[in-house]
Amino acid sequence: MCGIIGYVGAKEAAPIILNGLKRLEYRGYDSAGIAIVQPSGSTDVRKDIGRVAAIDAKLDFLGMKGTIGIGHTRWATHGGVTQNNAHPHISNNGKIVVIHNGIVENYQDIKRRLLDEGFTFYGETDTETIPNLIELEMRGGKDFETAARDAIKQLDGYYAVLAMFDGERKIVASRDGSPLVAGVGAGENFIGSDIPAFLEHTKTVMYIHDKDFVVIDDAGIRFKDLDGRAIERPVHSIDWSLEQAQKGDFDHFMMKEISEQVDTVQKAANQDKETLFAVADAVKKAKGVFLVACGSSYHACLSASYIFSKIANMHVNLVLASEFSNYEHFLTPDTLVIAVSQSGETIDVLDAVRTARRKGSKVMSIVNVMGSSLHRNSDLSLMLNAGPEICVLSTKTYTAQLAVLSLLAYTVAGRYDEGRESLQYLWNVIYNLTAANTRDYIKQLADKLKDKEHVFLIGRGLQYPTALEAALKIKEVSYIHAEGFSGGELKHGTIALIEPGTPAIVFSSADNEKEIISNAMEIKARGGYIIGVNAHSNEVFDFFIKTPEVGLLNPIVQIIPVQILAYQLAVLRGCDPDMPRNLAKSVTVK
Ligand code: G6P
Repeated sequence: MCGIIGYVGAKEAAPIILNGLKRLEYRGYDSAGIAIVQPSGSTDVRKDIGRVAAIDAKLDFLGMKGTIGIGHTRWATHGGVTQNNAHPHISNNGKIVVIHNGIVENYQDIKRRLLDEGFTFYGETDTETIPNLIELEMRGGKDFETAARDAIKQLDGYYAVLAMFDGERKIVASRDGSPLVAGVGAGENFIGSDIPAFLEHTKTVMYIHDKDFVVIDDAGIRFKDLDGRAIERPVHSIDWSLEQAQKGDFDHFMMKEISEQVDTVQKAANQDKETLFAVADAVKKAKGVFLVACGSSYHACLSASYIFSKIANMHVNLVLASEFSNYEHFLTPDTLVIAVSQSGETIDVLDAVRTARRKGSKVMSIVNVMGSSLHRNSDLSLMLNAGPEICVLSTKTYTAQLAVLSLLAYTVAGRYDEGRESLQYLWNVIYNLTAANTRDYIKQLADKLKDKEHVFLIGRGLQYPTALEAALKIKEVSYIHAEGFSGGELKHGTIALIEPGTPAIVFSSADNEKEIISNAMEIKARGGYIIGVNAHSNEVFDFFIKTPEVGLLNPIVQIIPVQILAYQLAVLRGCDPDMPRNLAKSVTVK
């Protein structure tokens, strides 16, 4: 996925776009570029590989003059990380510039046609076909806007695309499957792949729907369909604050967002009661409930499947969104699909929703981003209310998902009040777990583990999904190989890798302590270094992290020390916690 921003107004565009790119860097950070239509009418394009700040130092983005422009941060899909493949891309006649997020699946056909027409290409991206296709459309005498619309109509795949034409004070944009939202300011307008791109300028937004065609110029923002017919889209006010999208006193968003969990778990638990009860009712009435998600959201759903079983005596099906189509013959109009996603833009989740819709099933969601594709395509949504999560790793949204899913299970079981109170009790617990003294204590562990090649993590019952999520946190940010297992599984093969000093993090709780301690003993007997995460210590532990026993809510509290550990390992190993290599905040391509 990539980050996109556009600006039309009276101010210099470069500082606004540059700031927006810095805020969007979590969406992609291998290269970046800006195009600005200069007062003379010609377009200045500067782009390179690397992080936004480094490219700015080299190319002087702020030296670009003009009050309309577009900017892009890239996460490479088609074509390697090279200056040529960085966006914006320019048409052969040098007059049309385009930035794009997504994949043009039929780009080879389009490219062949363009080559036949004598066009040449300087890079390997699918995107480069788009400005040239617009140029081709303009050759027949069409104006830029019509040509852009007709070109976009020919694209298959997933895209959010912005285009400008030399000398015209206008940005045209469209999307299909990739996020794009317009920001309405006073005498100025914005467009971005995510609200933080322009949050410091306006909190008034208009969500762009798939296949909308949007024209932004000095007269304002106009919505059309791809045949050019005007359409109306509502204006929304959003309640995200700028502080939420800034690091404040923290060195990194990751630690800031870990610390915010004191409040975000409470905000998640503070669900709109009517919607919560309506979703609970749908769960009870459905003939078959599927939880569908990817990555950390999937781990939250795995926890939830145990919680539903334990508290609501109910089986819910759990499927990775990317595998969901394999289950489609079980879907009927009586099935309820609950899609869980922080961003609401993960392509596999959206595809699963399409599959469910095709079969007539009901679709509900648990999502953080208001107005996201998933939010708009759900019959009902429970909002995570976690505020923007900027770090690529999910931390506060993961525990918010756990809070919402747990509360839903309690509600289905007719025990809403008990669920609410149990979640309220966590405020104090999370406050202590994220306090400076806990962070210092965990740093001692990070110092011991920082040069290890492998970490294994085990848990049983609700501690099993926690082990999976904890392993994901460690590996994705510190690049130490980390694998999570259910306590019973490690000895079916992986125990062969335990050597003297190999660290194993052992999660346990009151209801599975005996068995998991036996598993820890097996690792210890082979020289493993045992780190216990539990309510009370045990002689098998070489290092102990105390987390109070909170029953079904243990997954919320037990992940927090390992989020902190993962963060500290990243810092000690010189890795960037907010933008780990090769990753993207939401995966909007297959
Ligand atoms: C990416 C992110 C993960 C996230 C997953 C699902 O891989 O790096 O942190 O868990 O996508 O994202 P979603 O927005 O659907 O929860």
